[in-house]
Amino acid sequence: MTEAVLLVGGRGTRLRPLTLHTPKPMVPAAGVPFLAHQLARARAAGVDHVVLATSYLAEVFEPYFGDGSAHGLRLTYVTEDVPLGTGGAIRAAADALEAGPGDDVLVFNGDILSGLDVRALLRRHERAQAEVTLHLTRVADPRAFGLVPTDADGRVLAFTEKPRRPEEIVTDQINAGCYVFRREVIDTIPTGRPVSVERETFPGLLAAGALLHGVVDASYWLDLGRPASFVQASADLVRGVVRSPAVPGEPGEHLVLPGAHVEPGARLRGGTVVGAGARVAAGAEVEGSVVLDGARIEEGARVRASMVGAGARVGPRTVLDGAVLGDRADVGADNELRDGARVWCGTAIPDAAIRFSAA
Ligand code: GTP
Repeated sequence: MTEAVLLVGGRGTRLRPLTLHTPKPMVPAAGVPFLAHQLARARAAGVDHVVLATSYLAEVFEPYFGDGSAHGLRLTYVTEDVPLGTGGAIRAAADALEAGPGDDVLVFNGDILSGLDVRALLRRHERAQAEVTLHLTRVADPRAFGLVPTDADGRVLAFTEKPRRPEEIVTDQINAGCYVFRREVIDTIPTGRPVSVERETFPGLLAAGALLHGVVDASYWLDLGRPASFVQASADLVRGVVRSPAVPGEPGEHLVLPGAHVEPGARLRGGTVVGAGARVAAGAEVEGSVVLDGARIEEGARVRASMVGAGARVGPRTVLDGAVLGDRADVGADNELRDGARVWCGTAIPDAAIRFSAA
């Protein structure tokens, strides 16, 4: 049996306002909650039992995913009343694992989309006989991530979380948010207080001489923490740039969910998804965007690389480019919102009130 812990308890502050009432893993990407893609990918990798480590808005997961049988998995929910951080969450979730001494456990951050071959990661972990094996990826600008340099054999040499000084940037390899833990190692994480696996557990293991192994993988990888990357991930899933068995349709330039109404003469492209009950009017153009259930895009509006919340309205001729509209936001005609502009849930913007709004 292969077991996994999925960390889904974060507050998702960078994705606000979409995460004010919905935890990040439940925000829809390519037509289904993002978590559905991760569960489908875990199952495809041979995982049969997943422990969901929940905290923020914990109550919304089980009504949607139930016991997991509809997704071909067994799901167990563990909730931290007070968020325990990534390490504390893994420790708390471990009580629900069936794995015993000598077994290996997969751990996934709940906000990463990747094309990693998880079976290969497990094999590399076994071969290296490591305490923990980490998936690493290379990024052009590693400053916002945890740097993980390795030696020629893949042995982890250090952890530098979000480096500030130029001399700290010794590698472009970063922690990609997927690990294989030997079961006993999880039991060494302290209980009852917040623990960061990145800042405390891994550096502590390294200092104690444990073998931590890094596997650098060049397949698709995206951290969905920010709106721009969330929208990108959804578009990539719709277009089949990265595959997920949970996408409710064939790969293509757009995905229109049942119950959506797209008028003839509307243009959808770049992996746009239009949710149930949403309407896109004639002459509107929507590119590489997420339009959630019940939203309305009116005549001549142009929406690019944006998220339009459930029940929100984009008025006639309004331009959104890299913007986020919270649920039920109402943007009148002839506005222009760009570069990370966010409209809070339920907020109304009158006609022709905003020309530019940079973050
Ligand atoms: P931001 O607030 O935007 O930074 O997002 P976040 O809260 O999701 O934090 P971050 O991206 O650092 O978290 C990485 C992963 O760990 C995500 O999948 C989170 O859901 C999860 N996570 C972070 N903190 C906790 C926690 O205290 N408990 C649990 N169960 N999961 C957590």
